[in-house]
Amino acid sequence: MASSISSYFITFITIFQLLCTCTLSTNGCYTSIISFGDSLTDTGNLKQLFDDANEQPLHFFYPPYGQTFFHSPTGRCSNGRLIIDFIAESIRLPLVRPFVGTKGRNMMALRQGVNYAVAGSTALDSSFHEARGVPNSMTNSSLGVQLGWFKQSVPSLCANVPDCKHFIGHSLILMGEIGGNDYNHALVAGKSTDELVTYVPLVVEVIISAVSELIELGAKTLVVPGNLPIGCSPVYLTLYYGSDNMEYDNSTGCITQLNNFSEYHNELLKIELSKVRENHPEVDLIYADYYNAAMQLFRSPNEYGFINGALKACCGGGGPFNYNTSIPCAHSSSSVCVQPDTYVNWDGFHLTEAAYKVIFQSVFQGPYTIPDFNSLCPASVIQEIDGISIST
Ligand SMILES: *[C@@H]1O[C@H](CO)[C@@H](O)[C@H](O)[C@H]1NC(C)=O
Ligand SMILES: *[C@@H]1O[C@H](CO)[C@@H](O)[C@H](O)[C@H]1NC(C)=O
Ligand SMILES: *[C@@H]1O[C@H](CO)[C@@H](O)[C@H](O)[C@H]1NC(C)=O
Ligand SMILES: *[C@@H]1O[C@H](CO)[C@@H](O)[C@H](O)[C@H]1NC(C)=O
Repeated sequence: MASSISSYFITFITIFQLLCTCTLSTNGCYTSIISFGDSLTDTGNLKQLFDDANEQPLHFFYPPYGQTFFHSPTGRCSNGRLIIDFIAESIRLPLVRPFVGTKGRNMMALRQGVNYAVAGSTALDSSFHEARGVPNSMTNSSLGVQLGWFKQSVPSLCANVPDCKHFIGHSLILMGEIGGNDYNHALVAGKSTDELVTYVPLVVEVIISAVSELIELGAKTLVVPGNLPIGCSPVYLTLYYGSDNMEYDNSTGCITQLNNFSEYHNELLKIELSKVRENHPEVDLIYADYYNAAMQLFRSPNEYGFINGALKACCGGGGPFNYNTSIPCAHSSSSVCVQPDTYVNWDGFHLTEAAYKVIFQSVFQGPYTIPDFNSLCPASVIQEIDGISIST
């Protein structure tokens, strides 16, 4: 009796495992999401770091952050979901949990997705920027630190070496966006784009070395987003407002020279990614073109429902672009718009949930990936998985 029960269970478990591994891992589909990055991707790590250190909370940790989807602040730098949330929803995985907030509690909860991204973080180590007079007041959790957390925590996310390889190999790894803050912090501190141009090869090198290290650890699918068009950001439109030596793109109102700079970073990143691809034909290494996906919104905001324009923040402290560095969104003197979904920009630096959703669709369900991301995990496979989970 006992043995027939246990053999029943063994059979059941074996069938269950077969179903899981066969259905979820064929055709490039994923059992987990692992991510690195900054405030475009952070789902709560910086908030937890501040809580742990008993630091004065930042404005991101107060309403109206989170108001549209989560109905309370989660540490996400937007009114709702981020691109990574839409990725998780689309491949039927749970929203990706912040590593710092889960550490030491329920590590197995991170098996279906773990996020190491920290808002405010840079690709280069903080010491690089500190040596140039730009200390990071928010976090020192640069990409190297995040990768260290990953390597430290992997053994508690899987059972043994082969299982860990399987875990990493069947994960969708989102590397970024990262690097934007290496430029943002320096620009806000008054550095020139001429100086920033010299950072670009170094920033790209750090991203590429993280990608290579993950490939060594067994990564098979990595998505590496480029930088957004920072010349369209209310922060810089405000910072350089009225300055004579700025050129504006008359089809968008964005600052030409800053968008050029973002494109320069992206071009270099693409060149280096193609070199890694040549050395690792067995790996799907995808460049995600956030820049051009976002440019659609700046060129034709009305077409996407952004009837209040693309350059004015929904939440902020007033001024021509509703951005004032001394009155950030959530400050008692700031105000928030009534319909965030009609704005591209949320708080000056970050985009609204509605804008992130369009970028997600353009990139992960549309044409803005190189090579094509969608051919790796066709929608039909996801349908099949659904069919199985309904029939069992
Ligand atoms: C970052 O590191 C520097 C030097 O170690 C330290 O002075 C600073 O307080 C740290 N910043 C944060 C936000 O932790
Ligand atoms: C934008 O600027 C270019 C060159 O300065 C000019 O040829 C073009 O007509 C302008 N377009 C609009 C819509 O003003
Ligand atoms: C931006 O890049 C274009 C094309 O590379 C170039 O023609 C233009 O002069 C650049 N503009 C600025 C302001 O850097
Ligand atoms: C920002 O707000 C401060 C305080 O109200 C004000 O003095 C300053 O002129 C504002 N700056 C901009 C760019 O609107």
